[in-house]
Amino acid sequence: MSEKIDNPIIKLDSINSTNNYATNHLAKEGWVEGTIVITDFQFSGKGQSQNSWESEKGKNMLMSMVLYPDDIPAQYQFVVSKVVALGVFEVVSLFVEHVSIKWPNDIYVGDKKIAGILIENAIMGSKLMHSVAGIGLNVNQHVFLSDAPNPVSLSQLKGMEFDRDEVLSLLIQSIGKWYEMLKQKKFSEIDTAYRNRLYRLGVEAKYKDESGNFIGTIVGIDPIGQLMIEKSSGEVRSYFFKEVAFLG
Ligand code: BTN
Repeated sequence: MSEKIDNPIIKLDSINSTNNYATNHLAKEGWVEGTIVITDFQFSGKGQSQNSWESEKGKNMLMSMVLYPDDIPAQYQFVVSKVVALGVFEVVSLFVEHVSIKWPNDIYVGDKKIAGILIENAIMGSKLMHSVAGIGLNVNQHVFLSDAPNPVSLSQLKGMEFDRDEVLSLLIQSIGKWYEMLKQKKFSEIDTAYRNRLYRLGVEAKYKDESGNFIGTIVGIDPIGQLMIEKSSGEVRSYFFKEVAFLG
């Protein structure tokens, strides 16, 4: 995939989920790397951990990009999440300040969530075969009805309507640029960029794990993508997704 905007784009009026559509068609139809599925509306948009993803018809970016990251061992698959999050981070940062990546791959503006990413990987043996990178970016929606705690959109933040085609072009360019770094195996640059953009990095805050609430400081991400938090006792623990909750 190059940085030029030449990704095949499949536009659907509505679909259950762009991730499902991509997963069901990519092999049968031999989709090329970088193929994108976008839609105006998802009947059952998927979020992380079996959650649903709310998006008002015709207002936001709902897209999935198909990637074939060769030679990435399955245990390091989190690097795909990193490059996609960095790409989305960069686009949101063109328009607003105080953007961060909330581990594992939510894009935040201040303490509000503007975008969610759902990466679905196919593993064969010990290697990553393909990734479907699903991105939901709130662009022009003003009223959110689900119980998602803290959604926000670009339009709410800037008081103007955004052109979704322009946002799509920017996302394709930016994700393409970071993905190219993955292809070139620039892992330490990717790791550093991701770490430096983490929500709450180096800031003391409240968390909850299986032993209860605690005060800790995010110190980084371990090689397999776990979140590392230093507790006030000085102990550093690594957590998989859902093993730790961010408290307000
Ligand atoms: C999250 O829970 O934060 C992840 C949300 C991911 C939503 C996007 S919208 C496009 C793609 N298709 C889906 O069904 N989900 C992802």
